[in-house]
Amino acid sequence: MRELAEQGRKVINLGEGELDFSTPDYVKRSGIEAIENDFTKYTEVTGIDELKSAIAFKLSRDSGVDYAKEQIIAASGGKQIIFNAMLATLDADDEVVIPAPYWVSYPDIVRLTGATPVIVECDRDQGFKLTPWGLREALNTNTRWLILNSPNNPTGAVYSRDELSALLDVLDDFPNILVLADDIYEHLTYEMPGISPVACRPDLAERILTVNGVSKLYAMTGWRIGYAAGPEWLIKAMTTLQSQSTTSAASMCQVAAGVALENSLDFLEPRLTELRERRDLVVAAIKAIDGLDCDTPGGAFYVYVDCRGLMGRRTPAGDALESDVDLAAYLASEAGVGVVPGTAFGLAPYLRLAYGLSREDIERAMGQITEACAALS
Ligand SMILES: Cc1ncc(COP(=O)(O)O)c(C=O)c1O
Repeated sequence: MRELAEQGRKVINLGEGELDFSTPDYVKRSGIEAIENDFTKYTEVTGIDELKSAIAFKLSRDSGVDYAKEQIIAASGGKQIIFNAMLATLDADDEVVIPAPYWVSYPDIVRLTGATPVIVECDRDQGFKLTPWGLREALNTNTRWLILNSPNNPTGAVYSRDELSALLDVLDDFPNILVLADDIYEHLTYEMPGISPVACRPDLAERILTVNGVSKLYAMTGWRIGYAAGPEWLIKAMTTLQSQSTTSAASMCQVAAGVALENSLDFLEPRLTELRERRDLVVAAIKAIDGLDCDTPGGAFYVYVDCRGLMGRRTPAGDALESDVDLAAYLASEAGVGVVPGTAFGLAPYLRLAYGLSREDIERAMGQITEACAALS
């Protein structure tokens, strides 16, 4: 899409996992002040005290679990946190259970450590969610981690308390398995509020690494601050690793993230209203297109579109669409709209549409997708 834009084509990219909202003003100001006050040096590896206190406050408020500072680490994004957790714990024989569709980085991070990702497909008819029996089948004595992500990227699926509890109950029979709970889209929900696995089962706090960050909720992707809370031994191992890689997250960004986390979520309501309207726009347009279909996702800012109905159809140039990758390429070139094929997320044929852009852009993009699909035969 960037190449097409550079060639002067007018393109709309529904492929980016990023919101067009601004970082809240008071958060921006705290970062600027930190720089002006010369808070520009190395910090403690796990993060400054103010940030760790804000993280502990947030986790206590939202999940009802109290963490000590030794159980918390901040890093340069949730992605670095996940990478540190996997690299610190995995050996070559280990397996990590990843429900598909999954965030693209999980399997690659696991592979980078030499361990094996075990992908469990979660179909549309099960709401793209892992079931207790699907989980049980995937577990064995080599399983080290289960990765859970709710609200989910790429489907927007949100697990209920009962669904999460049923999954965690399975793990009672496998006491050595850890859970990586990726809560990065927490609070971005539209009907049912999301719940963190550790809030469901606080008694499993010693086996759950809760991962979160400021990227999505506070529209702070560029500040690069993520964090985790979990068992002290694991945080210590991740700290050792981080001390020999990035040392710490950027000092002024830590200050700003702390301010974001310790303040109220009042700024969120109008943003959620706007996102819900964008989601409904996308869903209504998709349902009106012959050959495409989707369910209404409960969270994040993605719609996972079922495109089975378009497979085999021909483009005006006479090419058959044989996969979601073909369809995404066709929409890029014909409609000027960027979408990500489901193949990238481990469940095809689907398209992920991200509605992080303005309503105007989304309306235009959906109009262009509608026209391009109507031109198929
Ligand atoms: C599911 C999921 N987890 C983690 C991340 C990492 O976010 P960041 O590194 O910006 O904190 C992303 C970003 O797209 C994501 O979609």
